[in-house]
Amino acid sequence: MRIAISTGGGDAPGLNAVIRASVLAALQRGWDVLGIKRGYAGLLGEDEVIPLTRDSVRGIGHTGGTILRTTNRGSPFNYPIVQADGSIKYVDRSDELIANAKALGIDAIISIGGDGSLKIAQQLVDRGMKVVCVPKTIDNDVPCTINTFGFDTAVSTVVEALDKLHTTAESHDRVLCVEVMGRDTGFIALYAGMAGTADVVLIPEIPFSIDKVCEKVMARERAGRRFSIIVVAEGAIPVGGTESILGESMPGQAKRLGGVVDPLSREIQKRTGKETRSLILGHLQRGGQPTSYDRLLSTRFGGAAVRAIEEQAWGHMVALQSPHIVFVPIPEVLRHTKRVDPDGDIVMTAREMGISFGD
Ligand code: F6P
Repeated sequence: MRIAISTGGGDAPGLNAVIRASVLAALQRGWDVLGIKRGYAGLLGEDEVIPLTRDSVRGIGHTGGTILRTTNRGSPFNYPIVQADGSIKYVDRSDELIANAKALGIDAIISIGGDGSLKIAQQLVDRGMKVVCVPKTIDNDVPCTINTFGFDTAVSTVVEALDKLHTTAESHDRVLCVEVMGRDTGFIALYAGMAGTADVVLIPEIPFSIDKVCEKVMARERAGRRFSIIVVAEGAIPVGGTESILGESMPGQAKRLGGVVDPLSREIQKRTGKETRSLILGHLQRGGQPTSYDRLLSTRFGGAAVRAIEEQAWGHMVALQSPHIVFVPIPEVLRHTKRVDPDGDIVMTAREMGISFGD
């Protein structure tokens, strides 16, 4: 048996631990393992396919990034090719990919990625390829699994930043607005905001009003708490859309707040008279060593992916449904969306802790 591993989409701490676990579990069965570099680029002649041996994965379980590199350049079914005049043409290169995989004697592929990779994997399965998936994203928005690896590390990074921002905000009696990642979900903002004892948490699942945010800041002021920490998920949406903050909608930014935490903080300063600063934590949240939780989850996922191949569970994703790791059909995963439950116990508890969602 010869298997190949690919990592696609944005990186997440724990990718290397998944690769390591899959390689070790496969080698133990006497299988051969190849690594496809940069998503599927290695199978399209645009990068390499390398052997993955015991030595290739030695000492990588605790490291960030991915030894296979990654890309969100697009799908082999809709691959962007830059033309001589600079324009981009999208072509279907799946035949080439399948032929190259066959020529290399690849029997099955472990695809580690988010929703984009899951869709590609299903298309490859529909074309007769043997693919199993491992869910990956710091955003924690892959359905049918309680957690994805990388999320716990991202939350820890944000909490560390919030701890530091607390001391400077308090020293200067300032309001600090911190934008965090999460795409269309508020998991990182909510979990980190609670663990880091933020005062306001703005998430896409609960549209916020800037008046309510300012009310919370001023209520704290009156209570002698002269600083506030506001965590803003990049997908947070103000009631009335971003134009209610920006004055006009930005092209491509009509709904999401991402990248406009700066105007938001200026508006808070204008309305409250409080000195306000903003920052975007950005890709810091995707970097660094995985936490022990993520290392363990990644290792469990990597081992389970090899068992999924053994059981010929083609077109399935390994998932954590505590306390078990299960195999879920990809179409089942793609049918669902995963968002913060605005009425769930975590939001309820956050409210009981005095956190405002600006609603
Ligand atoms: O999905 C992971 C993620 O980090 C999101 O939280 C964020 O919106 C996006 O990727 C950023 O992507 P890029 O690295 O391509 O800017």
